[in-house]
Amino acid sequence: MPVLMLDGGDLFGRRNKNDQHQTHFLCEVTGDFGYDGIGLGEADLNYGLDFLREMIEKYDLPFTNANVVDRNTGELILPEYLIVEKNGIKFGLVSILAPRHKIITMTETDSGLDIKDPVATMRELMPRLREECDTVVLIGHLGEGQTDTLVREVKGFDLVLMGHVHRTLKKGRLVDDTIILAAPHEGRFAGRSDIFVNDENGRVEAFEVEVTSLDEALDDEPEMAKRVEEYKASFEEFKLAKRADFPRDLGSEKETYLGARSCKTCHEDTWAAYAESSHNTAFTSIRAKGMSNEPECILCHTTGYRYLNGFAEKSPFNKLSNVQCEACHGYGTEHDRDGKWIAQAKDSCVTCHDQENSPEFDYATYWEKIKH
Ligand code: HEC
Ligand code: HEC
Ligand code: HEC
Ligand code: HEC
Repeated sequence: MPVLMLDGGDLFGRRNKNDQHQTHFLCEVTGDFGYDGIGLGEADLNYGLDFLREMIEKYDLPFTNANVVDRNTGELILPEYLIVEKNGIKFGLVSILAPRHKIITMTETDSGLDIKDPVATMRELMPRLREECDTVVLIGHLGEGQTDTLVREVKGFDLVLMGHVHRTLKKGRLVDDTIILAAPHEGRFAGRSDIFVNDENGRVEAFEVEVTSLDEALDDEPEMAKRVEEYKASFEEFKLAKRADFPRDLGSEKETYLGARSCKTCHEDTWAAYAESSHNTAFTSIRAKGMSNEPECILCHTTGYRYLNGFAEKSPFNKLSNVQCEACHGYGTEHDRDGKWIAQAKDSCVTCHDQENSPEFDYATYWEKIKH
């Protein structure tokens, strides 16, 4: 029986370099699955348009979208729609992105793209689609409410697959006489729907839906499981290679960082001053840039990254994010009152406030801002 394979979009990962690495693998596998159409999700532009185009080219991904345009030229960035023939029936696959799903890329501050109004776009496009194909399928990246609005405002859709929906729709539903199906997120489920198309007029006349959870109850496909394992190993290598420039070779295995919270119990006043400072939110700054997995940034925006028992992604060492008390004073387990801790802290500033990252650094004026 002919199968129409569709994906609702948001295939790509979050805006950081580790996810970008994984996205390469996801695209490779998705390419091999041989989808007929993939609707564009805003997350698929997380690494910029050039990266999306590179993936499309390299892995032969059938992305489509009818309402995202280059702001300068007004031209669509992807094919407006796709026509796929199965069993002699021509399916028109069209995808629309909701304007409220902001496109934010990791590479530029402004993506340079505009999302045009869904209803106006479809009003213009629907007559052409109805003329060229038998069955019109919307891969809507709109969420549920806006999907229903679009289907009610513009007549002519036979079938809708919704992306960007975070709940599992175990059954299809009807809006007027259009069938609405959902593609649940994160690849945790596979949705299968048997549709019966009238080959006289292309109308979908009946359907059945089956949603399968891709959990432990289902055996892994051996060949794919092998590829996943191989990829995981290469991902670990990728992370280790990044880390290699910042070896954890300082300090002592015998000493430990206790975390700023433990200092707070005895040094309430100091804590109050510290909590106000931007040292206390330094990790947020790199996370906002999608760089919280990058050693080149973690180095100065956390506590003890190059030190034994210092910050690491794994618990309990992840509690050492931000520039905490011990980033300046040293290991909590070395707590003493001989003045060494104070001297150490005074010397610490320039390890992070270097020429490149803090060109205006001057001890007296900077200390004044964070004194305690
Ligand atoms: C482990 C690295 C590190 C050490 C050590 C360090 N800083 Fe910082 N400091 C930072 C980072 C990172 C920021 C930026 C925080 C942010 O906004 O993300 C910062 C920000 C500051 C700011 C705020 C700048 C502003 O105008 O908002 C001051 C003031 C400052 N540091 C003073 C000091 C002084 C004085 C010392 C030494 C006693 C010191 N820092 C030691 C990493 C460090
Ligand atoms: C050698 C230490 C060091 C490294 C490495 C470093 N930073 Fe910083 N960063 C600082 C210091 C110090 C400041 C505060 C500068 C100042 O105010 O004088 C700062 C400030 C910032 C700020 C400004 C916070 C704000 O909004 O005012 C951002 C954002 C930031 N860093 C991001 C990054 C990113 C992203 C990376 C990695 C690419 C990085 N940093 C690597 C030390 C570092
Ligand atoms: C950015 C670096 C930095 C951070 C973060 C920092 N300190 Fe300090 N701290 C210093 C420096 C430098 C001095 C010495 C100032 C001086 O005497 O000139 C100091 C002094 C002190 C003193 C001695 C005060 C006195 O005069 O007797 C205490 C106690 C202290 N810090 C506790 C803390 C605690 C607790 C935290 C976290 C809540 C903290 N510090 C965070 C740099 C830091
Ligand atoms: C059990 C209580 C307690 C805890 C927890 C504690 N301190 Fe202290 N700390 C003290 C006392 C008491 C002194 C000496 C009196 C003072 O300077 O306030 C002191 C002194 C200091 C001094 C000045 C040292 C000197 O040579 O004069 C620094 C710096 C300091 N503490 C930082 C920290 C940091 C950082 C932490 C968290 C890792 C921490 N303390 C946790 C009780 C504590």
